[in-house]
Amino acid sequence: METQTRVSAAEVREEGRLRVTVSGQPVVVFDFQGGFVAYVDVCPHQGGPVCSDGSLHPFLTAELDEAGRAVDTWAPGGERVLACPWHGWEFWLEDGVLIADPTKRLRRVSVTMDGDDLVLAL
Ligand code: FES
Repeated sequence: METQTRVSAAEVREEGRLRVTVSGQPVVVFDFQGGFVAYVDVCPHQGGPVCSDGSLHPFLTAELDEAGRAVDTWAPGGERVLACPWHGWEFWLEDGVLIADPTKRLRRVSVTMDGDDLVLAL
């Protein structure tokens, strides 16, 4: 069984994310902040397609105004939260860690550049 899969870096940049198979596992590679990250497309909750169908959004936080009311604020860093489409678990895109419980994470896939290609390995 193949333990590596090559994909075009330009194709990932054009699509934003690309689903492929590595070692028989569904994997999604993301164009992220000038580089690439990839994870097995299986949510650690109940196996949902978190990477291929999950939504990407900024991290919403809050600041208190002068009256002590919370004011919604988007934290810097752009779209860096990946939300599972099945039950809404949210993961940091940069490292696959579950925001609400850092003991849980997506299974990371190694990504290296080779010329114009990315080499994904499990
Ligand atoms: S399967 Fe992803 S949150 Fe439940």
